[in-house]
Amino acid sequence: MDHAARLQLLVSRVEAGIDLLLPPASEPSARLHEAMRYSMQAGGKRLRPVLVLAASELFTGPDAADPLPAAVAVECVHTYSLVHDDLPCMDNDDLRRGRPTAHRAFDEATALLAGDALLTRSFAILAESYASRPALAASLVGELAGAAGSRRLIGGQMEDLLAERRAEATDEDLRYIHLNKTAALIEASLAMGALCSGAPQDAVGALREAGRELGLAFQVVDDILDATCDSATLGKTAGKDARAGKATYVTVHGLDRARRIARERSDLAVAALRRLPGDAAFLARLAEDLVARSR
Ligand code: IPE
Ligand code: IPE
Ligand code: MG
Ligand code: MG
Ligand code: MG
Repeated sequence: MDHAARLQLLVSRVEAGIDLLLPPASEPSARLHEAMRYSMQAGGKRLRPVLVLAASELFTGPDAADPLPAAVAVECVHTYSLVHDDLPCMDNDDLRRGRPTAHRAFDEATALLAGDALLTRSFAILAESYASRPALAASLVGELAGAAGSRRLIGGQMEDLLAERRAEATDEDLRYIHLNKTAALIEASLAMGALCSGAPQDAVGALREAGRELGLAFQVVDDILDATCDSATLGKTAGKDARAGKATYVTVHGLDRARRIARERSDLAVAALRRLPGDAAFLARLAEDLVARSR
């Protein structure tokens, strides 16, 4: 199977998992469940859940557990972070995944609650789906909670907002922001996939390192695309970072250097992937395609 077909297959599995594991839109509160599904089923690249599935496929063991619920849980956390990121009190965005943002399609309070509900649903999915494997459930919950918490994703979001008001953001500030608001969840995705398959500790470590570099590359590319693409291509508002006076790799280093940094980070991710015992060619190709988007 070629790369595109395999990616499509994994995305389809994720989409089916989402439909299965989210409450039906008809169930009370219907408005809330409709809003959760609106944001979750708007498309999106599904990078993080695909990373969960692909990382799990690297290892085979008698105790391997189905990674799909873990993949869906990660996508719930990611989508909640986008719903809240778009709110007027944060980035105040109107467009997401090619559609009006949740607070535009519904209202602000509904978007806030739908985000809350997606975050809590993610942990319920892990607890319920891995109930027969308590040790695995505990490590998956710990991994995702750590990545999504105040020391990682939310801390990164906090510093991202503070950086808008700072005259000069340093390279170190940017690294903290990117490492946490974006790389944390990408790192956790790869680790969670490996945990589902009972991968050895050193392999989980190599995947974490790959995820960190991939995550840094990913946010540099996101910043480049914000500065160079149009909204229709992105499915979200382009040019927002500059208008918000946001510190990004593009504003701090300029476009050419930002592109070089993205390439370097993605190369480091691929190098970490090569240290893995299994065939990580699919993951390496994902990392390469990611950087190719920003040319
Ligand atoms: C957007 O993530 C937020 C960032 C961390 C840059 P994605 O670019 O993965 O968004 P979707 O999931 O494809 O919509
Ligand atoms: C968002 O970063 C990262 C998270 C949602 C955690 P951005 O604010 O750059 O993401 P976009 O560009 O709105 O997707
Ligand atoms: Mg933001
Ligand atoms: Mg934003
Ligand atoms: Mg952005």
